[in-house]
Formats: sequence, C-alpha cells, structure tokens
Amino acid sequence: MPNLNTKESFKKELIINFSKKHKIIPSKFHYDLKGSKYFEKITKAKEYYVARIEKQILKKIAPKIHSMFGDALTFIEFGSGSTEKIKILLNDQVKFYMPLDISFDFIKESSEKLTKSFPKLKILPTYCDYAKYLRLPKNISKTKIGFFLGSSIGNFYNLEEKKFLKNAKKTLGSNSFLFVGVDLIKNRKILKKAYNDSGGFAAQFNLNLITRMNNELKTKLKKRDFKYVSSFNKKNSCIQSFILSKKNQTLRLNKRKFFLKKGEKIQTETSKKFTFKTFSKLAKSSGWKVSNYWHDKKKYYSIFLLK
Ligand SMILES: C[S@@+](CC[C@H](N)C(=O)[O-])C[C@H]1O[C@@H](n2cnc3c(N)ncnc32)[C@H](O)[C@@H]1O
Repeated sequence: MPNLNTKESFKKELIINFSKKHKIIPSKFHYDLKGSKYFEKITKAKEYYVARIEKQILKKIAPKIHSMFGDALTFIEFGSGSTEKIKILLNDQVKFYMPLDISFDFIKESSEKLTKSFPKLKILPTYCDYAKYLRLPKNISKTKIGFFLGSSIGNFYNLEEKKFLKNAKKTLGSNSFLFVGVDLIKNRKILKKAYNDSGGFAAQFNLNLITRMNNELKTKLKKRDFKYVSSFNKKNSCIQSFILSKKNQTLRLNKRKFFLKKGEKIQTETSKKFTFKTFSKLAKSSGWKVSNYWHDKKKYYSIFLLK
C-alpha cells in the first residue's frame, strides 16, 4: 500500500506542519474510516446545503448524459467517498467506474456496496492521492468523464487547485470532460451554519483528528482539551476550520515536542468559495474551457462542466 494516508505519512507531515508558525493538519488526514463516516453524517445535516443542492443539480443533469456523451463511458471520480452522488448518474451507458480516494478502507467498503446495486458495472477502486497525475489502465472505454464533487476544489491551500486541475486534465487525457462541484459566495450566516451544524457532526469530524493522533501516533491528548471552531475569511473568500487548544499543553511526536498555547488554533481545513467569474478564470488558467454550468435558484452552489 503506498504511503499516502498511513500513520507514517501522518507523523511525517505533522512534524513538518507543526514546525511552522501557523500549525496545519492537511485535510486528507481527516479521512480514516471513522473520519469518512463522520463526513457522511455532515452531508446529511440540514444546515449542510452543499450535498443537498449538489444532488438536486445532478438529478437535472442525469437525463442529459446520453445526449451529451453517447455510449460506452468511463466515469472517473476524484475523492469518491461514499459514491452516493455518482449513483444518480450511473446507467447502462457507463461501462467502467474508477473511484479514486485516499480513504483506503472506506473506498473498499463503498465499492463493494456499489457492486451490489450495479452488478454489470466494472468498478476499479483506486487508492491514490488525487492531486497527482495518475496513469489510467488501457482497457477502459475511451470516453472519459471526470467528477470532482462535494466542493473539494475549495479544499486546497496555496493555490494548489490549479495544479490539481492541470493534473486531472493530464490524467483524463485529451477530449475528456470534468464535472466540478463549486460552492459559491453567499450570505455569511448560511456559510457559518453549514460548518457548525446543530448535530455537532462538523465538530466530531474535526476532533476525530485528536483520536487519530492518539491511536496512531500515541500522543496522549484529551479531546476535552480542544474545541472545534470555524470562521469566514473575507479576504480569501474561505471558511477556515480549526481545533483550538483550551490550555497550554505539549504534544509529543517521536522525540519532538510541540507546545500548544492556550487559545492556539491548528488549522484543519480551508473551504474556498467562488463566484462564476473566479471559478471560470481558474478553469481557463488551468487549461480547461467551461462548456456548461448549472446552479440552484438561490445560486448557493453550482456544477461546472469543463472540457
Ligand atoms: C469532501 S469529501 C467529498 C466526498 C464525495 N465526493 C462527496 O461529494 O460527498 C472528500 C473526499 O476526498 C477524499 N480525499 C481527500 N483528500 C484526498 C486526496 N489527496 N487524494 C484522494 N482522495 C482524497 C476523502 O477521503 C473524501 O472521500
């Protein structure tokens, strides 16, 4: 198994990131089996409009797949998670489905469930880092349609989303298409609620990182000494999520000691919000053309089709 989301890579990347002034835990480490399941709970929270609206838009797109792309399709989904959304679009035209995900046990579990619902579909689950170029198998059908849903395009730091889009084009090849779920800038209160659901699922999802550190890296942290907080950063148009240390404490990784001051925040995620214009500009500068886009009435969320 490649060293992507293992305890060795978790430890290595934490040591690098905790040595910086602003401590960060890269968001891919949210997704051990437990974290993936917490994320599923977030998608069902009433405040989390992202999943609800994205599914509504996919239902509108589903009947058009045939006229848009023809037959014998390969669907390739970057960060497939539970595969709940792709199910809306799967039909007999789709011969191959490649879910790409870093959550090793979850991708296995979700693919097994999907096989039961779509026994004729050839499912090729692939454990990989979706940000990197991936050489696709030769025997899949030629028309390749990529999907990057769940507003994951907003989760990159340091403008890495451009690199992702360029690599996705290289992976999918010429004449391919990519559907991207894009969360739009909207009223701040709605945004804040979505990342602070009343069921506390966003908090559980983020604080699961403490459990993961304790289980895999033998840190002896207590969940009750941390608090989940999130805020909107207007300058960068993003929601930032953190776990905040409620007291002065020390975290030990190998022989390294890291001090956490009372009130210090460790960033656990960034979720950038776009306008139609800023996303179109990003797509263009990454080598894609906007072929179409759909959105809900209130313009909370959109799905772009890139070519
Ligand atoms: C925000 S969730 C979205 C899940 C699903 N696409 C949806 O829309 O509900 C992000 C998904 O991407 C996966 N993921 C996160 N970082 C990844 C990376 N660097 N490489 C591959 N998969 C990654 C996670 O395991 C998770 O399944």
